[in-house]
Amino acid sequence: SEYETILVETRGRVGWITLNRPEALNALNSQVMHDVVDAATAFDADEGIGAIVVTGSERAFAAGADIKEMEAKSGLDMIMGDHFGEWGRFAAVRTPVIAAVSGYALGGGCELAMMCDIILAADTAKFGQPEINLGVIPGMGGSQRLIRAVGYYKAAELVLTGRMMDAAEAERCGLASRVVPASDLLDEAQKTADAIAAKSLPSVYAAKAALDAAMETSLAEGLRFERHVFAALFDTADQKEGMAAFREKRPPQFTGR
Ligand code: HXC
Repeated sequence: SEYETILVETRGRVGWITLNRPEALNALNSQVMHDVVDAATAFDADEGIGAIVVTGSERAFAAGADIKEMEAKSGLDMIMGDHFGEWGRFAAVRTPVIAAVSGYALGGGCELAMMCDIILAADTAKFGQPEINLGVIPGMGGSQRLIRAVGYYKAAELVLTGRMMDAAEAERCGLASRVVPASDLLDEAQKTADAIAAKSLPSVYAAKAALDAAMETSLAEGLRFERHVFAALFDTADQKEGMAAFREKRPPQFTGR
């Protein structure tokens, strides 16, 4: 493969990115960041791909940013390394991304999962933002996205204590979309991704953009955005097909146009 730290493959209309640094529990060093961002943007540019899955190993989705790589750096080094800008390109892909999380999703690993649209958790998953134990704080969105996902008080407790939560707690508080037995995780991820990839691509892009807007804007702005994007979809062939298929009581044949 052209990548050092990840495995990349296509299954049907689904692009798979598997983090592959088992010796470091998939710690996210700069190379992993480049690889994941590259692979995700390449899938995003491919009309044949309707959904992306990001996963790790059974033991770890990712145990955080690479502590050994960061340890000696200065504040300026961290800014110049542009971790924020590069991961931002991952968060900005149009295609829905499913995080399939087994084992540890800590620090940057939890933050990577939260850059995805759906978090499928194995019953073995453990989520946390333990940066406070290292004398730092979350740096890839953990203090911002976690609050939007689970609310202030749960997020504050996790970020300030650094404790881990299990899959059941993550589902209860709204971080995990769904929890499945560990042995079913990859099948469930493929099924969920297949279901999304079978829809009309323009409507899927529009839905993700509208969901993203809800995270970023006021209600009034978000409603205005939703209304315009909703209206724009009525100029697609797929909207005519989807509604005709309903009337004719048959499955729709979407073309992505
Ligand atoms: C570098 C890591 C690592 C990490 C694990 N390893 N996590 N290396 N960065 N984040 C390495 C270990 O050093 C070890 O290497 C190997 O992976 C196996 O880990 P162990 O600790 O031996 O495994 P275990 O005892 O099972 O404990 C698992 C663990 C623990 C609880 C997940 O590894 C852990 O606490 N890791 C750090 C979690 C963390 O603090 N993450 C937040 C990082 S800061 P060797 O060579 O010794 O075998 C962050 C900031 C984001 O993410 C902002 C970025 C801009």
